[in-house]
Amino acid sequence: MNKKPIGVFDSGIGGLTVVRTMLKHLPYENIVYFGDTARVPYGSKSPQVVREYAEDITKFLISKDVKMIVIACNTVSAVALDVVQKYARIPVIGVIIPGAEAAAAWTKKKRIGVIGTAGTIASSAYSNALKLINPELQVYSRACPLFVPLVEEGWMDHPATEMIAKEYLFPLMTEKIDTLVLGCTHYPLLKDVITK
Ligand code: DGL
Repeated sequence: MNKKPIGVFDSGIGGLTVVRTMLKHLPYENIVYFGDTARVPYGSKSPQVVREYAEDITKFLISKDVKMIVIACNTVSAVALDVVQKYARIPVIGVIIPGAEAAAAWTKKKRIGVIGTAGTIASSAYSNALKLINPELQVYSRACPLFVPLVEEGWMDHPATEMIAKEYLFPLMTEKIDTLVLGCTHYPLLKDVITK
């Protein structure tokens, strides 16, 4: 077994939701986690800026001698996967393709909703990946920029969060989606209110 650590990074602490799942499946792996709490959020920044940040962090993780890199951040995976691959020269996994594959396998009605940051939704990365997997899929996307600050505030089950979730999700529900991709590291922490 290669004992080197796996590098994981995100724009902040949200990517620990990805680490939690990784450790469930790979309990013997060592992980070096980089959360860019100094420069978060990424979701409202331009692709150019996010690409520069991705380059910095990749160089940092390579200096820690990681054996592979997992980009936990959806926004980075959407707009800068190629940058990380270029500088890493080791295996790199983003979250868009695995998320799209899971959604495509799950849907029965071929109607999928995707929520994410403004950057992720503007990039169309999820809808492009889903259409590549199955061109018959109907994809309905919506940016939910208020979800990240609500999570950071710890308002997971606050009435304001419920109201905002209703507002964001109503148009997707009227499209009769049967599967929703939580395309942002913070959204699993709102799973209860989103599911409701
Ligand atoms: N980590 C980001 C993502 O998954 C969300 C937080 C941010 O805007 O930086 O897209």
